[in-house]
Amino acid sequence: AYTAEPFVPERGGLTALRKAAAECRGCPLHRDATQTVFGTGDTDARVLIVGEQPGDQEDRQGKPFVGPAGRLLDRALAEAGIDPAQTYVTNAVKHFKFTLPHSRLRSSGGTPIAPGKRRIHKAPSLREMTACGPWLAAELALVDPELIVVLGATAGKALLGSSFRVTQQRGTLLEEEIHGRQARVVATIHPSAALRADDREAVYQGLVSDLKVAARALG
Ligand code: URA
Ligand code: SF4
Repeated sequence: AYTAEPFVPERGGLTALRKAAAECRGCPLHRDATQTVFGTGDTDARVLIVGEQPGDQEDRQGKPFVGPAGRLLDRALAEAGIDPAQTYVTNAVKHFKFTLPHSRLRSSGGTPIAPGKRRIHKAPSLREMTACGPWLAAELALVDPELIVVLGATAGKALLGSSFRVTQQRGTLLEEEIHGRQARVVATIHPSAALRADDREAVYQGLVSDLKVAARALG
């Protein structure tokens, strides 16, 4: 089975973890991605925020949530009253999974159109999420947060199991066992859902209101 397990160092803290993750070959996703996108933040962080996987910008820059979804998340966190200095931000899967648009034959002349540079995000599979789990478990053990904020269905399933339903479990304080530890969790939608939705403002306000539940849980 695919797993990051043999790549995860047993000591050395966050620095050793990040360094080792850069060399992870635990599943095939490292092959096409530019680099490992490990979590950012301090081990003193009160809140661990978990997204799905890096996107195009994150893959290029090597940091989580630096693209459009990240900007929206920052705005929503600020509006909910969660201080970014108190957060550790990471993803369930550490490499960008994508497809390239297929080259097609133009109906007019049959001239092949070269594949564009645009890379289309693909949801990670359960196998890939499971493979990458040891990194998240190690981050969780080091940060030992007071609260975990789960962004979207993929992160929810990765952390809480395949029966997780974001529509049913969002916006309430949950007590869950995650990677062998009791944890307080607030789930919400993925911020990119608020970038795509028809009713963006309402979806965004839903995100903010869930994050306010997290802010209250922190006291
Ligand atoms: N979406 C995610 O889930 N994570 C990122 O880091 C960026 C976009
Ligand atoms: Fe390793 Fe995770 Fe990257 Fe797969 S996605 S190679 S398990 S860091």
